[in-house]
This record gives sequence, C-alpha cells and structure tokens, in this order.
Amino acid sequence: MILWRSTSAHTEEPRLIDSGAIVPAIFGSYAGLPDSIPNPSRGKDVWKINGCGVCHAQSMKDVLTGPALGGVTERWAAHPREDLYTWIQSSQKLIGEGHPRAIAVWNEWKPTVMPIYPDLTDEECADLLAYIEVVYADY
Ligand code: HEC
Repeated sequence: MILWRSTSAHTEEPRLIDSGAIVPAIFGSYAGLPDSIPNPSRGKDVWKINGCGVCHAQSMKDVLTGPALGGVTERWAAHPREDLYTWIQSSQKLIGEGHPRAIAVWNEWKPTVMPIYPDLTDEECADLLAYIEVVYADY
C-alpha cells in the first residue's frame, strides 16, 4: 500500500494537459501532511540537496550511471522497509552483511559504488522513497 497517495489529488483533480503545470498542484497537496508521514515534497528537496540525480535519472524510468529507481520499494518488498533506508545510508554495509537484495543489485552494477549518505535520517529516506514513487507513478 502506498500511504502517501491516499489524498484526493489523483482522483478528483482534473488532469492538466501540460504535465509541467500539474507538478506543483500535486506536490502542493502534500504540504499539510504530518511530519511522521513520508512526504514526497520534502523528498524532492532531499533528492536535490544530495545530488541523487547525478546518477539516477530524474524520470525514475531511465538508466544512467545507476539504475532507474522507479518501483524500487516493490523490488525490496520482501524485506523490512528499514533495509532500504540502510541501503541509501550505506549500501556497502548492507552488501557486506550479505543482504540478498543488496547483493543482487551490487552484482548487476559493480564496480560502480554508490556514495554513502550517513547523515540522512530514516525519515529523510522515507521522504526520498515517497518522492521516487510519486514521480514514477505519475510521469
Ligand atoms: C555516484 C552515483 C550515485 C549517486 C550519486 C547515487 N546513487 Fe544510488 N545507486 C548507484 C549505483 C551504481 C547503484 C547500483 C548498486 C551499486 O552499484 O552499488 C545504486 C542503487 C541505488 C538503489 C537500489 C536500487 C534497486 O533497484 O534496488 C537505491 C534505492 C538508490 N541507489 C538510491 C539513491 C538515492 C536516494 C541517492 C541520493 C541520496 C543515490 N542513490 C545517489 C549510484 C548512485
């Protein structure tokens, strides 16, 4: 279940022709969410500040230096969500621990190593993932 999409934005608001125009409209509807709920609007800022887009395509659908991230929560669904936060904070740590999904991604992409982001909190990682999946689902 994707908790953060349970707003009316996707069902009641008219789809605008210019997708550039609807982005602020949809993101604006997340502004009032409580801090505890993953928030794609905050996630967008975390994405930009940390330069994830240098290696991961902004569309979340294309492959660049790193894999397309759209659908990543689904690909990690067999594992606790926290594992994905750990991946973002320190992917090599998870690989070193023998995590099956981490090892599968690594085997596909090595020797390119994703940078570590030890300062990102679990909440910021949840916001990032919310942003990734909203972009992937809508555009
Ligand atoms: C220097 C390039 C680079 C940057 C910057 C980068 N990544 Fe990655 N990322 C990778 C590579 C390469 C992989 C594939 C695994 C590997 O080789 O370690 C990956 C894998 C991932 C995965 C796992 C994908 C899957 O299908 O399981 C996630 C999630 C991810 N990155 C998120 C992020 C986020 C969020 C940021 C920003 C905070 C970020 N990455 C920044 C290169 C990068």
